[in-house]
Amino acid sequence: MNRRKGKFIVFEGIDGSGKSTQVRCLLSHLEKRGIDVCETREPQNDRPVGALLRSALGGKTELNEGSIALLFASDRLDHISSMLPMLEEGTSIVCDRYYFSSFAYNDTALDSEWIISVNAEAMRLLRPDLVIFLDVPSDVSIERLSKRAGIKEIFETPKRQERVRRNYLDLFERFRNEENVVIIDGTLDASDVTEKVIEAVDKLF
Ligand code: TYD
Repeated sequence: MNRRKGKFIVFEGIDGSGKSTQVRCLLSHLEKRGIDVCETREPQNDRPVGALLRSALGGKTELNEGSIALLFASDRLDHISSMLPMLEEGTSIVCDRYYFSSFAYNDTALDSEWIISVNAEAMRLLRPDLVIFLDVPSDVSIERLSKRAGIKEIFETPKRQERVRRNYLDLFERFRNEENVVIIDGTLDASDVTEKVIEAVDKLF
């Protein structure tokens, strides 16, 4: 039985889809409503496995793709163990990326069924109350990323981004009976996207 009093809301999307902006807007909306809420992300920046992942994604640590997939799953289980008590006590959580990112991104040299299987425990322990997918085509994502400062991560090429987007859409179809997913057109004005996000989230409370 689900003993969680808080809601677990996940944002997914390809790089440059506008997740960070929308996470911020949603947080501020929920706080204004007086809802006890906090923000988090995967991979976790402040935990050892997450730090290793960031270093691998930035090309500073060389790791085999299978190891990377296992590290994402490991970071997630560690994350879940800190989130579950908060959710049970009534804090809602908005999370930037969760297991759908593993399914969508970590498939290049790996069997997608294996990736799903290494995330089975996460799926059993903590399913999101809502997954918000910000859908943008890869050309929009690449254009936005090219305007951003900072180091490019290893996944960011147009072909790669389009494949990740397709993976997401296929997965949502596959899990449509188990997961509560809302797909929002991420090419709209940020304020229009926020309106749609709020409309979906307010139904949970
Ligand atoms: P993200 O934090 O969204 O990137 P940014 O640093 O630009 O804000 O995600 C980091 C990268 O990690 C992103 O390219 C997707 C990838 N990723 C996976 O490959 N598998 C996963 O399970 C997760 C959570 C992220």
